Amino acid sequence: MEKLAYEESYELVKEEIQKALTNSPRIINEYLTHLSAAQGKMIRAVSVLTCAQDEEGKINPSAVHAAAAIEIIHLASLVHDDVIDDADLRRGKETLQKKYGKRTAVICGDYLLSLALKMTAAIPNRKDYEDYEDMNLPNYISRLCLGELLQHINNDNLNLTVFEYIKIISGKTAALFEASFLAGAIMGGYPAEEIKKYRKIGNYAGLIFQMQDDCLDFDETVEQAKKPVQSDYEQGVITLPVIYALGQLPDFKKKAAEGCIGRADINRAVEKSGGLNFTKQMIGRYYKKAERCISRLDTTEEKRRKITAIVKKATGMKVEL
Ligand code: FPP
Ligand code: MG
Repeated sequence: MEKLAYEESYELVKEEIQKALTNSPRIINEYLTHLSAAQGKMIRAVSVLTCAQDEEGKINPSAVHAAAAIEIIHLASLVHDDVIDDADLRRGKETLQKKYGKRTAVICGDYLLSLALKMTAAIPNRKDYEDYEDMNLPNYISRLCLGELLQHINNDNLNLTVFEYIKIISGKTAALFEASFLAGAIMGGYPAEEIKKYRKIGNYAGLIFQMQDDCLDFDETVEQAKKPVQSDYEQGVITLPVIYALGQLPDFKKKAAEGCIGRADINRAVEKSGGLNFTKQMIGRYYKKAERCISRLDTTEEKRRKITAIVKKATGMKVEL
C-alpha cells in the first residue's frame, strides 16, 4: 500500500475517529456523538504517526488505524475516569457521566474499548509486520487498568512514596504513551534495538505528561484546563506536589491525617514546601533522560526534532506539533 504524508495521515486519523463515533449504532449514537464534539490534544496519535515516519517523512497507512485505536482507548479510559472522579467537565464539555449518568458512561466506555479492538483487528496486512505481536495493545490496556486500580487502592494514603506514585502514573498514563511510540516504531519497520529506544522515550513522555497534569491541578483555572482543577486531593488522589509537601511539613501531615485540612491549606502547604518546584525538577530529570534517548535514535535530524517537540509538549510547553 502506498505510504502517506504526515498531514494526510493526521487528517485520516481524525476522520477514522469521527466516523467510528458518529456512525455508531442508533442506540449509542447520541452518547458517542456527544463525545465526538470535543477533540483532545491528539498527542498519542501524533506520537504514533511521528514515530512511524520513514527517512522521507512518509507513513505506512496501518499507522493511521493504530493511532485511531490508541486515541479511542484513551477516550474510553477518560470516560471511565470521569465516572471514578465524578467529574463534570472534560475537554470543555459536559462529561458523559454528568449528562447521561454513570451507568450509561460505564457502558459507553466499554463500547469504546470494543471499537478500538475492532480497529486494531482490522489493520490490513498486519501479519507483514515482523514485530506486530510485540505491539501487544491488550497488555498496555491491562497496565492502564492496573495503574488506575493502584491509584484507587492508595486513595487517601498520606504515606504514599515517590516510588509508588511513579508506579501508578507509569500504568495509568505512561503505558499508553509507550504503546503509541512502540506502535509507531513497529509500523515504521524499525529493527528491535531501535524499537526499544522509541518505547523508552514514550514511557518518559508519559511520566512527564502525568506529572505536568498533576501540576496543572494547582496551576490552572477550569477555563484553561477545560476540566476540573483543584480536585485531585478531594478525590483522594495523592499527587507528587502533595507527597513532597507531606514529607516536608510534619504539621501539615498531622492535620491531614486528622482530616482537618481544606483546599486553602493544601495550596499553602504545596506553595510553602516547594512541591510544584520539586515536581518540575522531576519533570526536568525525565526530560533529560528522554533527550539522551532521542539523541541515540538512528534517524533524521528532522524526526529527532519532532519527537523532542512531543516530549516538550508533554512538559506543558506551548509547541506546535
Ligand atoms: C486520567 O487521570 C485517567 C487516566 C490517565 C487513566 C484512567 C484509566 C482507567 C479509568 C482504567 C480503565 C481503562 C479503560 C481502557 C476503559 P487523571 O484523573 O489524573 O486526569 P484528569 O485530570 O484528566 O482527569
Ligand atoms: Mg480524572
